[in-house]
This record gives sequence, C-alpha cells and structure tokens, in this order.
Amino acid sequence: MNTTIQTMLGHRSIRKFTDAAISDEQLTTIIAAGIAASSSSMIQATSIIRITDPEKRAALAHLAGDQAYVKEAAEFLVFCIDYQRHYSISSEIKPEYTELTLIGAIDSGLMAQNCLLAAESIGLGGVYIGGLRNSPHEVDALLNLPPHSAILFGMCLGVPAQDPQTKPRLPMAMILHENEYQPLNKPLLAEYDQQMIEYYQQRSTHNKQQDWSSAVTATLSKESRPFIADYFKSKGLMTK
Ligand SMILES: Cc1cc2nc3c(=O)[nH]c(=O)nc-3n(C[C@H](O)[C@H](O)[C@H](O)COP(=O)(O)O)c2cc1C
Repeated sequence: MNTTIQTMLGHRSIRKFTDAAISDEQLTTIIAAGIAASSSSMIQATSIIRITDPEKRAALAHLAGDQAYVKEAAEFLVFCIDYQRHYSISSEIKPEYTELTLIGAIDSGLMAQNCLLAAESIGLGGVYIGGLRNSPHEVDALLNLPPHSAILFGMCLGVPAQDPQTKPRLPMAMILHENEYQPLNKPLLAEYDQQMIEYYQQRSTHNKQQDWSSAVTATLSKESRPFIADYFKSKGLMTK
C-alpha cells in the first residue's frame, strides 16, 4: 500500500489542536492541492474564505453551534459556492438553476477533501464544520458574501493534539453494488451495528451505547435545516 492510500485510510476528524501555526508554505500547498481537484465543465464555482480575524472566528464558532475548535484551530476556512465571479464576467449567466448549485456543491466538496487530505499527508489534521449552516444568513453577512455566492461548510486545520481511533465505516459490500441496486443486507448491517456499539464504548471521548442504525434513524427523523432552501434562494440560487 502506498503512502497516499495509507493517509486516506488513516483519516479521522481532529477536534483538538496544539497552539502551533500552519506555515504559509504549508497552507499554500494545501490550498493548491484543493484547487487541483476536478471541476465540472471547468466552471470552478468555489471560493474559500480564510478567517484570520479572531473576532470573526469567535463569532463563527458561536454561529456553528458553539464549536470551540473553530476558534482554536490554526486555520479556519469557509468553502462557498461562488457564481458571483462568473456573474461579474457576464450578467447573462443564469446561476439560478439548481443544477448549478449541485455542481458548485460537488466541486467544493472535492476541493475541500483534497485540502484535508493534503493537510493529513503532512501530519496536520482537521474537521469539516457543517454547523455553519445552522445560521446561514448570519454567517453570510459576517463574510460579506455577494449575491450568487453562498456558504457551504467550514474546515478547521491544525496540528493534532489528540489521536482518535478511525471510525468504522459501513462494510464495502453494502456500499458497492454490482450492475444494479442491491437491497439492504441485514446480517451485514447487524455486524456493523455491533462494531459501532463496540467503537462508541471504547473511544476515549463521548462514550455512548448506540448502534449506527438507531443513530442515523434518530438524526434523519428530525427536520434537517428546513430553512436552507430559502437561504439559497435568497442568494439567487436554486430558484429554477
Ligand atoms: C460536510 C461535513 C460537515 C461536518 N460538520 C461537522 C461539524 O459541524 N462538527 C463536527 O464536529 N464534525 C463535523 N463533521 C465531521 C463528521 O462528524 C465526521 O466526518 C464523521 O463523524 C466521521 O468521523 P471521522 O471523520 O473521524 O471518520 C462534518 C463532516 C462533513 C463531511
């Protein structure tokens, strides 16, 4: 196995960081790796906002649901869909199509994952912060985002001050289907649920007695940020 794949398979989110900074050279490398990701039709509809202002960091940490690591990480990046750039080139573009928001979100996810992987490959760690979408209008205003651009998620990066276990994923046989969709494999799911019970019991923080099926059922039975479609529409996106 090569070191790239070892880094990928060793991924775990890091939520505690030392006070060490990320050097300019490291950050430039991480962002360059992100920008190198594939982009649908070369549209390149992502902007990354690096938050260096400590007051903005604190405000974002609060808006993300009081996630302290947003304040504490060496770097905090906000990934945004950005069609304002294209609109500035030509006001004839039509960023309101949902397809274009999908493209922007997919491309931004690919760019971000390249950034995280690059960071992990040089001994850094990080975590995505979807919690920014708890208060999209407030975050948007804080970052002074123009129309046709919208927040997606943040990312904390820094030198890890913890060494958490990797979290077990669904078995490959449940994710990889051949030629057509395969129905749920219940015995495999039961094995995975047992594995997750053991993982949650053994891990160093937030021990709990829960399996994956009940955890995702609880999560997905709640409303999921029901205000988010209106936020995107308010930015001139997803109205068609
Ligand atoms: C788009 C996205 C948003 C996320 N948002 C948060 C967040 O707001 N806070 C947090 O602590 N973790 C967040 N996570 C991290 C997930 O909880 C984590 O990836 C998942 O539990 C799997 O754990 P692992 O990354 O350690 O393997 C997010 C992950 C993704 C991909």
